Order: sequence, then C-alpha cells, then structure tokens
Amino acid sequence: MSLPKPVEGLERQASGPLLDTFARAHSYLRISVTDRCNYRCTYCMPADGLEWMKREDLLSLEEIARVAGLFARMGVRGIRLTGGEPTVRRGLPQLVRMLADIEGIDDVAMTTNGHSFAPQAQLYRDAGLNRINVSLDTLRADRFTEITRGGDLAKVLASIDAAVAVGLTPVKVNCVVVRDLNVHDLVDLVRYFSTRPDVILRFIEYMPFSGNESRKRHVPVQEVRDLLGELWTLTPVARTVGKGPAVNWRVEETGQVLGFISPITEHFCDSCNRLRMQADGHLRTCLSKDGTPSLRELIRLGLTDDALSVAIRGMVWGKIAGHEAHYEEGWRTFDGAMIQVGG
Ligand code: 5AD
Ligand code: SF4
Repeated sequence: MSLPKPVEGLERQASGPLLDTFARAHSYLRISVTDRCNYRCTYCMPADGLEWMKREDLLSLEEIARVAGLFARMGVRGIRLTGGEPTVRRGLPQLVRMLADIEGIDDVAMTTNGHSFAPQAQLYRDAGLNRINVSLDTLRADRFTEITRGGDLAKVLASIDAAVAVGLTPVKVNCVVVRDLNVHDLVDLVRYFSTRPDVILRFIEYMPFSGNESRKRHVPVQEVRDLLGELWTLTPVARTVGKGPAVNWRVEETGQVLGFISPITEHFCDSCNRLRMQADGHLRTCLSKDGTPSLRELIRLGLTDDALSVAIRGMVWGKIAGHEAHYEEGWRTFDGAMIQVGG
C-alpha cells in the first residue's frame, strides 16, 4: 500500500473540517490522559522503564476539555481516552462527563487495560462513556502476568463482563499478536469470546516503537487469519467507511465477528482520520512521529480559543503522509514508546 500524495491546489482553510495537505479530514481525537500505567506490557514500554512526564507538564482536566471543545468546533466527533492507563488519572469520570457534554462530540470511548475498571463501570457509564476497548493478549494467567509484567487476568475478564453488563457495548478486546509469545493462545481467545456476542475480539499487528522487539516478533494479520482458517471458515465483512482501521471477518461456524488491524502489512494511512494528543499536550498528528509543538505551551501563554484553533489547524496541515515501517522491506521504528501515545 502506498502513502497518500498531497492534493494539488488544496488550500489551507480557516474554517470547516480539519484538513491536511492530503485532504484527509480529521474527526477523531485520541487523548492520552497520563503516561503512567499500573501494567508494564513488554510491547508497550521498555523493560527498564521510561522517564515519566512531570506532573506540572500534564494538561489539567480543564485544559483537556477546553482543547477538546476547540477540536469539536473543527469537526471532531469522537474522542477516545487512552494512556498509559487512563483510569489511573485522578478525576477521570469527571473528565468523561466534561467531554460528553461538549456540543458536537457524539462518542466518548476509552481504551483500558481493565485492571481496575470493573468496580467503576457504572460510574463511567453514568458519566457519559459510550464504549471501552480492553487489552488482552492471552487467557493463560501465567503468560498474561509475564506479558503485562504483573497484571491480573481475572480482573481484566471481570472488567469485560462488567462493561457488557452496564451496556458499554460492543466491548472491543485488543490482542497484540507477538511471535513466540501469544500466537498459540489466539485460538483459545477466539473460542472464549465466541459465546459473547457483545464482545468483538481484534487482532493487532505489533508496531515497532523504539525499545520494543517488534522487528523479530511481528506477525502479519494474514498469518493469523491463515492459522484460524485451519479451524474455522472466515469470510470478510463489508467495510463500514470511516469506522476505523479494523477489517472485520465473520467466523461462519459461530457467527462471531473478529477484527484485524494491520498497521504494518496493510497500512491505512491514506484514510487516516485520527489525531492524538499526549498527556503533556503534544499533538501527534501521526502515530509514528513526534515533534509537533506542544499545545500546553500555547495554552499557558494565554492564547485565545481562536488563536489556539489557528495553531491546531497549522499543526494538522503539517501532518506527514504516514509511516514507512513495511514488513520485510526495511523496518523503521516509530518515535518514542506506545505508553506515551496510547495506541
Ligand atoms: N503494537 C501494537 N499495539 C500496541 N499496543 C500497545 N503497544 C503496541 C504495539 N507496540 C496496544 C495495546 C492497547 C492499545 C492502546 O495499543 O494492546 O490495546
Ligand atoms: Fe499499560 Fe496498556 Fe501499555 Fe500495557 S499496553 S503497558 S496496559 S498502556
């Protein structure tokens, strides 16, 4: 798949959708609310840890909500809270409420590791959360603890059930496929969720961040489909445009739907509608690159809403075409660590 080309004659707009030079309109914002996590997944952060962001560098909940409001005025409709682990950020349910109340925002979702979500599921639901994604790479408790460096599988499964029970559905379960780690556990995951129609299991290709071992351990989604195809008949489901990068396949024998996300082997940069803001206010217009200036500094310099919006438009206009990490043809690493960006 090739990267998009700049659209000739396209001019920077002062209003309307948030466009880049490739005419991609951005309607979806992922907000990382903390770079900290109560797990330390091997694919997400280096073993020897990272330097955490300073507390005073984190955007306050009010600053986050203000920025989100500006994005909503520029056409963002969906927000996903990520981390690190978003639930470790104090006051998160209040933030959910603030975001859900913003005019124009019609979907507030969250990606969590599920460690402490179950007891708070109803609280989040009442605050206006619509959906959650939960990360889960194996059903073997010992391997789960190994991958997450200390996680508790039972708590995660309880969170998935709690989310279904309070209606945060469909719950999406994200499984990052890592060679020599969980490839043999995928069939069990499919079986386990085959009786839970409110849960969609999704397999995600391992992405190469500095400090992880993705080069040796990447598994293309086609290989996962082939492996599952030995047991079941998989048929592609027609794509819903604008619904994110997952490609769904149906397991004919059970009716279960499985999602496949292939950021590397079948990348979807040409239809990217996403923006990411880190907890310190850095806007990551492309997941693979950092370096966009910080909104925090502009906010704290006292910029007006209009001036901030102009700055945001400028940053989005400068978005790069996409990433060039192609499986087998050279391997470029994404900047930083996933834990700072939140997927
Ligand atoms: N490659 C692919 N997915 C990753 N995630 C974390 N690190 C990586 C990586 N290197 C996933 C997590 C979580 C989501 C935020 O991103 O499993 O579900
Ligand atoms: Fe934490 Fe999620 Fe990263 Fe794992 S993938 S270390 S749970 S932020």
